[in-house]
Amino acid sequence: MEEMLAQGPLAGRKIVLGVTGGIAAYKAVELTSRLRKAGAEVHVIMTRAAQDFVTELTFREISGQAVVTSMWDKVPTHNVEHIALANLADLLLVAPATANFLAKAAAGLADDMLTTTLLATKAPVFLAPAMNTNMYENPVTQKNLRELAARGFHIIEPASGHLACGVTGKGRLPEPADIARQVEAFFAKARDLLGRKVLVTAGGTREPLDPVRYLGNRSTGRMGYAIAQEAAARGADVVLVSAPSALPVPPGVRCVHVETAREMREAVLREFDDADVVIKAAAVADYRPKIVAKNKIKKSEGEFTLVLERNPDILLELGQKKRQQVLVGFAAETTKLEEYARGKLAKKNLDFIVANDVSRPDAGFAVDTNCAKLFMRDGTVCDCPLSSKAELAGVILDHVRACLS
Ligand code: CTP
Repeated sequence: MEEMLAQGPLAGRKIVLGVTGGIAAYKAVELTSRLRKAGAEVHVIMTRAAQDFVTELTFREISGQAVVTSMWDKVPTHNVEHIALANLADLLLVAPATANFLAKAAAGLADDMLTTTLLATKAPVFLAPAMNTNMYENPVTQKNLRELAARGFHIIEPASGHLACGVTGKGRLPEPADIARQVEAFFAKARDLLGRKVLVTAGGTREPLDPVRYLGNRSTGRMGYAIAQEAAARGADVVLVSAPSALPVPPGVRCVHVETAREMREAVLREFDDADVVIKAAAVADYRPKIVAKNKIKKSEGEFTLVLERNPDILLELGQKKRQQVLVGFAAETTKLEEYARGKLAKKNLDFIVANDVSRPDAGFAVDTNCAKLFMRDGTVCDCPLSSKAELAGVILDHVRACLS
């Protein structure tokens, strides 16, 4: 049998492939075949609508496994209680994922076998949306995709081109070979940080002024949370020291919540000695109010003067203490990006620094994308054009991995 001979990253992996009811469902047949040829064991779950496009028999023949078409199927091979496939999966892939499916997934509905499996699984999830361009671009679909991405699901970008509905635009299911490659790449690098302790800081510190006010900044924590999530997915033991953020803690990540720069310093120093990697994505306030009023400050006529004092520079201190640790800093700049970033790289004794031009509307704070340059200690520069924060997190960790070996 072909799959017994395969040696690549997919060999022996159990992939649950969800097929929903879109015209691209036929491409899932070739996808099944490719994954199987690469050595994966593929278990297909079809939604009711998918069965209008492709027959269950086709998937059964191509996958060599029983196909689940309903919550109430009795499939002897994998003891179908409704969560059996959720437990068995090394990875859950939904291709094509319709707008309706994405909406149900985002809402956490479990009204058929696929949505139930999605809700019950702890395996990594890949979703490949495919639909009409207008449906794809509809703000509610985009919101659902953002929420699903924030929950840690990997979204496979749809391709652009001529769609079955007659329009030309974004929404096509990528070629099965491309989808299979992305899944393969995931398994190939999946565990390359196994056994490493990665300490990540995220969010913007808050420096209290009185019991109801603070000095803060625009950081949402998205970049740091994306790094923590990717590091955990790659097998690392991740500690996230987070200033206040509305984001959910990624699965498998230990989170220490802090508020001020001084609290962050303490938490970071507690975790530093046995860390292999420290990535300081937090926006730490350089100053704090010198006096914190016990009671709410009441307004009065005229000017109000606030005296600030310096906060500790946590990263500078880590650079001085550093032994085995790979140390990565961030520089958010509005001018002289390269000059400032290189200055911080040297001064803080870093292995590399991720520099962001935060004056760009599509990079920096409160957006899902980032456009960064990595300045390495040896003088080399890595340009990361506009990409999602999850993708940039992957690039940063690839460089961390290279520094570790
Ligand atoms: N940083 C830190 N502690 C601080 C300030 C910054 O650990 N008190 C870290 C940040 O997490 C980031 C890096 O240092 O990884 C650069 O932060 P940034 O504020 O851009 O640099 P500064 O050194 O504070 O320089 P400046 O404010 O003058 O731009």
